[in-house]
Amino acid sequence: MLSDVPARFVQSNGVAGAKLKNASDAVPQSSTAVDWATHLTAEAKLRSQPTLRRLVVGSAGKHEVAGLHGGLPHPSIFPLEGITLHLKGGASLTIDDPQTVTDAQQYNLTSQGYDPLREWVRVHTNEQHHPPPSGQHDILITNGNNHTFEVLVANLVGAGGCMLCEEFTYPHVVESVAVPLGIRLHGVAMDAEGLQPDALRQAMQNAKQSGSSVPKVLYIIPTGQNPTGAVSGLDRKKAIYQICQEEDIIILEDDPYYYLQFSTGPGEQPGLAGLQPSYLSLDVDGRVARMDTFSKFLVPGLRLGWLTVHPELLLKACMTLQGATVGACGLSQVITAELMRHWEQKGQLEAHVRDVQGQYARRAACLLRAADSHLQGLAEWVAPTAGMFLWMRLLHCSDADDVIQQLVEAGIIVLPGRVAHFQGPCPPGGCPFIRMSFSKASSAEMENGISTLAWILRARSAQANGSSKNLAPTALPSLSGACRAATPGMDQMAGNPPVVPGL
Ligand SMILES: Cc1ncc(COP(=O)(O)O)c(C=O)c1O
Repeated sequence: MLSDVPARFVQSNGVAGAKLKNASDAVPQSSTAVDWATHLTAEAKLRSQPTLRRLVVGSAGKHEVAGLHGGLPHPSIFPLEGITLHLKGGASLTIDDPQTVTDAQQYNLTSQGYDPLREWVRVHTNEQHHPPPSGQHDILITNGNNHTFEVLVANLVGAGGCMLCEEFTYPHVVESVAVPLGIRLHGVAMDAEGLQPDALRQAMQNAKQSGSSVPKVLYIIPTGQNPTGAVSGLDRKKAIYQICQEEDIIILEDDPYYYLQFSTGPGEQPGLAGLQPSYLSLDVDGRVARMDTFSKFLVPGLRLGWLTVHPELLLKACMTLQGATVGACGLSQVITAELMRHWEQKGQLEAHVRDVQGQYARRAACLLRAADSHLQGLAEWVAPTAGMFLWMRLLHCSDADDVIQQLVEAGIIVLPGRVAHFQGPCPPGGCPFIRMSFSKASSAEMENGISTLAWILRARSAQANGSSKNLAPTALPSLSGACRAATPGMDQMAGNPPVVPGL
């Protein structure tokens, strides 16, 4: 159990420097360490190192062997001799080392990612999360969190399997992974801090009593949760981690909004040092597979992220990733490695992260100001402190679909909460929630969206009371048909009073 773990495990840095280490290497194991044989899918067990990759790895750097085995293009055909990046603020960064420029253009068949980037990520992850050494974590550079997730699902869940997740979760997980693969999601009730520990215990008990297969994987978005914006604090994470130890559950920690934690008060932004500890930072067992991405704090077009995970799972994930994409984009990796090196030399990564956090704090405040001035008594929400989303419950309205349709007709798009429900795009019951994003809209668009929503809600209310027929909105067909809400955990969250930001 977590509380039994010696302090030195929790304090020191744990992400290994070596590639694909053996799990049995000299670090002491926790008593609840994961037995991977009981977790890997049949697909994972059948995966082995592809022959070509084995040959390439075996001959890498050996100048005495004649490499007649691979299908790697000769570097002489590559068109780039150098890369110059023009950065905002006037600085420029030139990449002209011949080996680096070749690496950027060549297949990367040999490794867990471009070594300089992997090394930056390793040091950075140790500094940010201090993963306990007994968890034996290692790093794989990936094509971003969506793909990392698919890789993990292939190795830990599989088609027709089952998985725990938050009651409202990232719609991609439901629509693009669970539904097509026939994966049964067990939704766990949430509150303002995200997934509730008691509800997790209950979900496991229900699954055991149901006689069907019991989930061994929990998918969770701990920071600026998509769609609810919830942020889990350390005590909440400890409670959930402990249940996962007791039930031998692997935690898929999808944390794209980790760097987007912001202060809504007059104080400084948290920067890198003030970010919430992660599940990885608690992981004495090696049961956390943490997904990080460059998408939200840097550039989504890079399609670049990293997986921090136990070496046995990493080996399988690496095989799946290499088989599917031959690894992450070389050009993206080289550019990112050089940018991170340049920024760190000048202390600019910290400045960049603070700048991003400040921007999101101001954007969130703008949307909240509009909500506060137009939606009192019509909707409820909790002020976000991370991520990109404001999650809103429409009052006097069991299903948001008609309202959303009227917003569409007025040229305003919001995400229907029901598409993020674990039961699929059309859960059996109405869903009074909507998700509004503050990441990209202008302040005028935010004001317009919120005031139009307020008008629609007032008009509906007037129509229901029979007091103002002129304001009554046109009756529109529901997008989802009749549904009635089954969202007990969220009631608590929505019950919190709206918070007016102090900015
Ligand atoms: C919870 C969550 N996971 C993953 C992603 C996608 O991440 P990436 O761009 O790294 O694939 C997003 C958003 O786009 C997200 O909200």
